[in-house]
Amino acid sequence: MTVKMGKRLQQIVDMAWRAQEQKHYQHIWDMCCDHGQVGINLLDRSPACHLHFVDQVPSIMTSLQLRLEHHFASSSTHWHTHCQDAGQISFSAAESHLVIIAGVGGVNTLALINQMLSKTPSSNIDFLLCPVHQLWPLRKALNQKGYGLEREQLLQENRRFYELLYVSGTSQKAISNTGCHLWQADKRLSEQYQQRLLAHYHRMQHADDQHIATIIDAYMKVDRHWR
Ligand SMILES: C[S@@+](CC[C@H](N)C(=O)[O-])C[C@H]1O[C@@H](n2cnc3c(N)ncnc32)[C@H](O)[C@@H]1O
Repeated sequence: MTVKMGKRLQQIVDMAWRAQEQKHYQHIWDMCCDHGQVGINLLDRSPACHLHFVDQVPSIMTSLQLRLEHHFASSSTHWHTHCQDAGQISFSAAESHLVIIAGVGGVNTLALINQMLSKTPSSNIDFLLCPVHQLWPLRKALNQKGYGLEREQLLQENRRFYELLYVSGTSQKAISNTGCHLWQADKRLSEQYQQRLLAHYHRMQHADDQHIATIIDAYMKVDRHWR
């Protein structure tokens, strides 16, 4: 079944597939899946794992369930649908999980991660994240939780910028608050993104706001040396 996807979702699927090829997760979760495009595109490639679709809106999950039954009834991949709050999912502690959360604000993404990790050890759950804004607090918190960087990427779709962040509880590579490699892949794109972030934080800044000043300073100093 071919589902047309924009650049952002395509890059998420590609990074998830590469992660699966390397780590052979037993479970992949398309959290906050909406129409399930990411999960469906992964399902098309028949990964040897359990593939889960999660969204809290009943009408979304009912039509997705029908669509999956129609197209993937005989798939070799075991797929599952869950109509519930992603933060309340129970993960089997003895198995490995790749959790994909995309299209949700960075602060909400972090709240979901906090809920998930309150019940399951971080060594069992890797995350592939593509939040809408608020990357700084998310990256900072992931670092504090002991997560390390696997891969990161900057992308643009419809004039919006997105960071794609793949992190794991077993990687030793520190996650930078500003990002690291994403500034070095595409000179023009990263320059535009830096300007966009700086303009955003300048608008937020009040005279005595040391926290925002720190963020502005860090984004001004990112290493955009094109390698
Ligand atoms: C903008 S869509 C994102 C869809 C897709 N992941 C993407 O990146 O395009 C956000 C979806 O997240 C779902 N959602 C938001 N919070 C959720 C939660 N706590 N648990 C489950 N689903 C949630 C909404 O119902 C909605 O379908």
